[in-house]
Amino acid sequence: MSQTPVIRIGLCGFGTVGQGVWKHFTRSRTELENRLGVRLELHRVAVRKLRKARSVRIPAARLTVDALAVATDPSIQIVCELIGGTGLARELTLAALRLGKSVVSANKALICAHGAEIFATAHRHGGHFLFEASVAGGIPIIKALREGLVANRFPHIYGILNGTCNYILTQMEEQDAPYKSVLAEAKRMGYAEADEALDVQGWDTAHKASVLAWLAHGVWVKPAQMVVEGIDRITPADFKNAAVLGYGIKLLAVIARDFSSDELSVRVHPTLLPVGNVIANVSGVFNAISVTGDVVGTTLYIGRGAGQDATASAVISDIVDAAALLRGGKSAYQPAAETLPARNGCRLAPPEHIKCRYYLRLTVRDQPGVLARVASVMARHHISIASVIQNPAEVADAASLVLTTHQSHERAMRSTLRDLARLASVLERPVLLRIGDFND
Ligand code: HSE
Repeated sequence: MSQTPVIRIGLCGFGTVGQGVWKHFTRSRTELENRLGVRLELHRVAVRKLRKARSVRIPAARLTVDALAVATDPSIQIVCELIGGTGLARELTLAALRLGKSVVSANKALICAHGAEIFATAHRHGGHFLFEASVAGGIPIIKALREGLVANRFPHIYGILNGTCNYILTQMEEQDAPYKSVLAEAKRMGYAEADEALDVQGWDTAHKASVLAWLAHGVWVKPAQMVVEGIDRITPADFKNAAVLGYGIKLLAVIARDFSSDELSVRVHPTLLPVGNVIANVSGVFNAISVTGDVVGTTLYIGRGAGQDATASAVISDIVDAAALLRGGKSAYQPAAETLPARNGCRLAPPEHIKCRYYLRLTVRDQPGVLARVASVMARHHISIASVIQNPAEVADAASLVLTTHQSHERAMRSTLRDLARLASVLERPVLLRIGDFND
């Protein structure tokens, strides 16, 4: 009688996500094993501290503090890298791949910085690198782009890719809650990165946008090559102004390719979205992505983008795919990412090529002639004003001026901002938001 083969899995990192994987994997293990026709064993777990209160019970014999030993353990075939960062995480990922193992990762910063090296290593040594959990938590957006939408070219992908920011923006808008206390709550709920600046300054979204841009267009775009702006200067007043104008505010990643000029633009910034846009109504920790393919049209994906359970769902999906690959070979599976054909030919659009409508908030001295001076700076740079709202500012003797523009060039807008900031009557650094005119 033949024995059921065993596939051993090692977890490197046992924080919020690692414990979620243990919890849900243990619960669904028998069902997954029956589906795959193999036994799956969570064999070893690398932790930072051996003795620590944890939300799951785990036999002490499975624990080690040596993550590299787990990644290179000859009895382990699937390594889950859940440590984060780009130091030890890169080292153990490459070590495991060089041994022909499969690596499952939730680490968008690592993929963004070292994706080319990681995929080349996986390809060279016959292993696989799976990364569903790296973008949009529980939404299977990697599978959608790589498999379900493989017949398409993608003129537009845009959406909310950071659960922490969406949670903060929603609480600020709906509860008038102060930024700092909402951020602390997002950390408590396990949404935020260890370094919260990655979330609120837009870098985490940029890492995820980079992964999606690579999947969709076959080129690596680094955050340094993108416009990346975060949510840390948005105030409750911006939500009120946006609502008066008929908009909500969301931190969006935008990946746009113009197939006639073959320019690709990847950017991250808070965006005013019309209140009727579905994505403007996606709240809390949820992410939402609109993907427009030239064959399928527009498709929309919504789900929890951060947190223990959503991320564990994606990691377990990758573990199962990795096990299926081990069991049935490449032919048992869809094209692996490391053999993705480069859909080259496109070049990166310089940020100055962005053209959109803008929302500009200025805190100015409440004196005669100030509005005229602001308007004159804008006119000098050929920026056409579409609307003006004036409210009292929180600063004494000051007013908050909110201007929206007609379609303008980013280059002209940047020059305008520079000149406005130099006016003696402008009291604080201007706040600039972009208006998202997405048709779908
Ligand atoms: N900090 C990330 C977020 C976690 O809030 O979306 C999921 O990648």
